[in-house]
Amino acid sequence: MRIVIITSNMSIQIEIVRTISGLRRKVSSWRKNGLSIGLVPTMGALHNGHFSLVKQSINTTDKTITTLFVNPKQFGPNEDLTFYPRDEASDVEALDALGVDLLFAPSLAEVYPVDFATEISVPGIGDVMEGVFRQGFFIGVATVVAKLLIQSLPDRAFFGEKDLQQLYVIRKMVTDLDIPVEIVGCPIIRESDGLALSSRNIYLSADERICATELYRGLNQISQRALNGKQISILIKEEKKRLLNSGFSKVDYLAVCNTQDFKEMACLTKPAHVLGAAWVGKTRLIDNIQIC
Ligand code: PAF
Repeated sequence: MRIVIITSNMSIQIEIVRTISGLRRKVSSWRKNGLSIGLVPTMGALHNGHFSLVKQSINTTDKTITTLFVNPKQFGPNEDLTFYPRDEASDVEALDALGVDLLFAPSLAEVYPVDFATEISVPGIGDVMEGVFRQGFFIGVATVVAKLLIQSLPDRAFFGEKDLQQLYVIRKMVTDLDIPVEIVGCPIIRESDGLALSSRNIYLSADERICATELYRGLNQISQRALNGKQISILIKEEKKRLLNSGFSKVDYLAVCNTQDFKEMACLTKPAHVLGAAWVGKTRLIDNIQIC
């Protein structure tokens, strides 16, 4: 892992804190002054999707904290933890330019001391789709997000709707554990051809990048045809085939569901979303759209 220590750039205003005690000191000083706090949890490699969360926090709260922590507990043994993109220096510069007040960038030992044992699981909603294909993923996400919320006690925390199931797992966890925070979902930010922004898009070769946009097109096709009354199971079968023929190497799932339980719908009942996860080469893409 590359650790960049920012010492020379005197124009950087953002405060960088690496300890929970330092974070708590700062939060309590803001609280004493009656200021509201927004939290934007990230794993770094920031793009316009993250920046839209940051902007929403800055626009709706007095102080914004962004966290930067690549959480090993949400990566499976065969996933991309070791080569997940990391560039703290450029993340710091971008967050500073946006006007973020504090970056919390703890070490692994600060978040998970050697004797760390607790896990938070959200069965039901966390057991389907991403929960099937990325075993342990939601336990890792729920555990780290609960810790970050308890460490910073924000009024609001901001998450992207690209990871729609993650957003609802976090909402359920916060409700069940009575964590006093508002979870705000923010719209997906897309490239001009529709590809949803993701830190992992960096892995795509030029040819894979062209193919990648077909996932979004596929979700739209399913949505349109479901609205026209076509049978969902047939639409999904046809769309999986089309994605595989257009260069995707594997389709983990395509599904129409509601956001209550993320169970697949056989017949369209609105509100509903189409969600998909598929592989282009070695890169796994996920995306979703609301059917409306
Ligand atoms: O969506 C992400 O980037 C991560 O899952 C999160 C919420 C920061 C937890 O590590």
